[in-house]
Amino acid sequence: MKTAEIRKRWLNFFAERGHTVVPSASLVSDDPTLMFTVAGMVPFVPYFTGLIPAPFDRATSVQKCIRTSDIEEVGKTPRHGTFFQMNGNFSFGDYFKKEAIGFAWEFLTGSEESGCLGFDPKDLWVTVYKDDDESIGYWTEIAGLPEERIQRLDADTNYWSTGQPGPAGPCSEIFFDRGPAYGIDGGPATDDDRYVEIWNLVFMQYLIGDVKSKTDFTILGELPKKNIDTGMGLERVAFIKQGVENMYEIDEVRPVLDRAAELSGRAYGANHEDDVRLRVIADHVRSSLMLLSDGVTPSNEGRGYILRRLMRRVVRAMRLLGVEGATFPELFAASRDAMKHSYPEVAEDYPRLSRIAFGEEDTFLRTLAGGTEILDAAVTSTKQAGGVTLNGKTAFLLHDTFGFPIDLTLEIAEEAGLRVDRGAFDSMMLEQRTRAKADAKSKKGHLADLSVYSAFRAGGETVFRGYDELITGTRVLGVIVDGVSVPAASAGQTAEVILAETTLYAESGGQDSDNGRIIGAGFEADVLDVQKPVKGLISHTVKIDQGTLAVGDEATTVVDADYRLGAAQAHSSTHLIHAALRQTLGENAHQSGSYNKAGYMRLDFSWNQALSTETKTEIEEIANNAIRDNFEVVTREMPIDEAKKLGAMALFGEKYGSTVRMVDINGPWSRELCAGTHVGRSSEIGLVSLVSESSVGSSNRRVEAMVGREAFRELSAERALVSQLTGALKTPREQLPEKIQELVNNLKNAEKKIAAFESQALSEKIPGLVEKAALLGNIRVVAQNVGELGSGDDLRALVTGVRERLGADAAVTALTATVAGRPLVIVGTNQAARDAGIAAGALVKIASGVLGGGGGGKPDLAQGGGSNPEAIPAALAAITEQIGR
Ligand code: ALA
Repeated sequence: MKTAEIRKRWLNFFAERGHTVVPSASLVSDDPTLMFTVAGMVPFVPYFTGLIPAPFDRATSVQKCIRTSDIEEVGKTPRHGTFFQMNGNFSFGDYFKKEAIGFAWEFLTGSEESGCLGFDPKDLWVTVYKDDDESIGYWTEIAGLPEERIQRLDADTNYWSTGQPGPAGPCSEIFFDRGPAYGIDGGPATDDDRYVEIWNLVFMQYLIGDVKSKTDFTILGELPKKNIDTGMGLERVAFIKQGVENMYEIDEVRPVLDRAAELSGRAYGANHEDDVRLRVIADHVRSSLMLLSDGVTPSNEGRGYILRRLMRRVVRAMRLLGVEGATFPELFAASRDAMKHSYPEVAEDYPRLSRIAFGEEDTFLRTLAGGTEILDAAVTSTKQAGGVTLNGKTAFLLHDTFGFPIDLTLEIAEEAGLRVDRGAFDSMMLEQRTRAKADAKSKKGHLADLSVYSAFRAGGETVFRGYDELITGTRVLGVIVDGVSVPAASAGQTAEVILAETTLYAESGGQDSDNGRIIGAGFEADVLDVQKPVKGLISHTVKIDQGTLAVGDEATTVVDADYRLGAAQAHSSTHLIHAALRQTLGENAHQSGSYNKAGYMRLDFSWNQALSTETKTEIEEIANNAIRDNFEVVTREMPIDEAKKLGAMALFGEKYGSTVRMVDINGPWSRELCAGTHVGRSSEIGLVSLVSESSVGSSNRRVEAMVGREAFRELSAERALVSQLTGALKTPREQLPEKIQELVNNLKNAEKKIAAFESQALSEKIPGLVEKAALLGNIRVVAQNVGELGSGDDLRALVTGVRERLGADAAVTALTATVAGRPLVIVGTNQAARDAGIAAGALVKIASGVLGGGGGGKPDLAQGGGSNPEAIPAALAAITEQIGR
């Protein structure tokens, strides 16, 4: 049975039983506490908690999900996918345990002919939360399951939540027994490879908080109603119904695995390690495709980092399978073809998805190449200095700065006969992780528990009056200190204030929050930040300067007019630059992000290469011409469909309500959906000056500009800089570039001359060394220490120079030096000496041992070193002694 068929049967079954079919929400979750949609219930959380009344009593969906907590398990077990689909049926205060169990049993064991799945009841087991006798009753009564196939388990498996504060409840899980070939008897409690969980029924009835782990949390209270949330793993059921071994072999995934096998020439099923890699590739390629399709782009933080990691793991796994070049063009197309039946958007949007994916792969392949160069250099210098261990710092630097995976470093070092100081590397990694964790915590802190905001939001939306006014009278509805709602706060305290109405703009749509003040009869407060912690609610973080601000007080919000003008100039400029970019580069230059505040704006957009100077100038000029043309900035509210028809630009991945605000500047030239504050006419912006254009991750560029007064200041500072240069170089401004080029050329010539002098000085040492040759038996030997040298190369040049001068009779040149405080030894032999049985490598080995290190090499030239410069005379003595034997 095809995966798409199971999905169809599911939706039909529940639709026929009174459930509203809800399309899958985006993988990018609306809920600020969750990075991704991790379960079918995520889009319904506000209905479960009662924050928003549910528009239906029963719903069903097939939800796209991402979970990466078990990423190491992928490919090793049959059932761990980073992307998967969860089939869910939900009841919002309608039916509960009895019906949920009844539906599940009927759908699983009903015949295929009747539209169900036709599982044999003998193959099914269930688990329940330890004291849930009620569910056991239904499982025996409705399903007729014998008691020995119902197991009681603890909270770690049978209590479900998203891992964040929110709705939760005990659950009952259904398992499929794959038979004794897959593991020991004893039911789901004993083995989860043999007994595969296929469906989880959650009896969602509590609100939990203070979540420390799966089993450590506080039940804050009962939800307003008893609900049902279930999740059937579509991939798991598919692999069982398709008679294959695991979820990577189902119809929606296997084609990628096969393509990877073909490209690498490795047969699937021949070798366990390769099989795991092929499965990892198949899983991660699909997850990457689906994430890109939902608007995530690779980056170094948050969601983008997860995507980047998945893609890099694919490249890495392909490399371990012996493929060095780009493979995404093949693998992505295979995944697209397997997924497009259920998700047509992956085919429609493929040009965009593939552009980003191929760019990312390309960048990483180059990273690998660049990192390999650095690693090779580190390996060589370690060996030259006679070391056997590559230091942890290099490994960490490669990992941290170049994104070079540690296992690759280990592999390459090993090939070169070196170990890696894994201890030092691990401790640097640990340190970094601790820092990152603390950082994430401090950022997330105020978002982690949203219940306090939700409570205020339940009382209605904050009315924003700031489009037309800067000042408004209002009332204090709430005061929050350290996340707790309090009656009042006083001078010196920092608090969050919830108001009935406000003119202060909350950070959103790329625009930073307004500066301003909140003033009342008995208090004055300075506004530090304005945010929307939950949709529709504006929270003002303030520092109270004077008096006491209390719930119920009358207050006035006052926006800093100068700041607001700057912010409006910056936001309108962002629209102008966006339109100018699209005019110059074409439709593909999609905005992927933006940030603006008074005096400054930046805009990120998808584009593969750096912009030329001409293009940058053109964009800047188009924007400044639009300013001069004094266009009216027209804002209108309308239904979203109408705005779309008018061609308004919407941001990918952004959520819009049914009514939207459309901002036109010389519309339709610049026409965007936007809730920001803007100038009335374009000429109020004054001036825009592009200050930089750079790369932010693969296939993403960033332009930054100064706006209005700040643009003028920027240009004025540059003028001052130029005048400083003309003064210092005594050159008119037009001739500055030439003058600087001349200085650079002179410097290069001078450096060349110095190098020539140094090399001459080195060769002048050669005759003196040749004179010191002593005869040991019939072999001429120069064994000397030459003192401090700049590099190992210098010493090698001396050895070969002396060897040449010693002529054709048997001769050995053994020189030592200190380079950067470390002793180095190089030995060269000529043919006659080698014929007499003397090998440079053997001599170096002995000398390096004396120097406290290692080394070796070929019979004609070898090099080594150590750590103890004091031992140089002894090392030279050891060489002559050995020759004399
Ligand atoms: N929300 C439940 C789960 O993800 C059904 O297992």
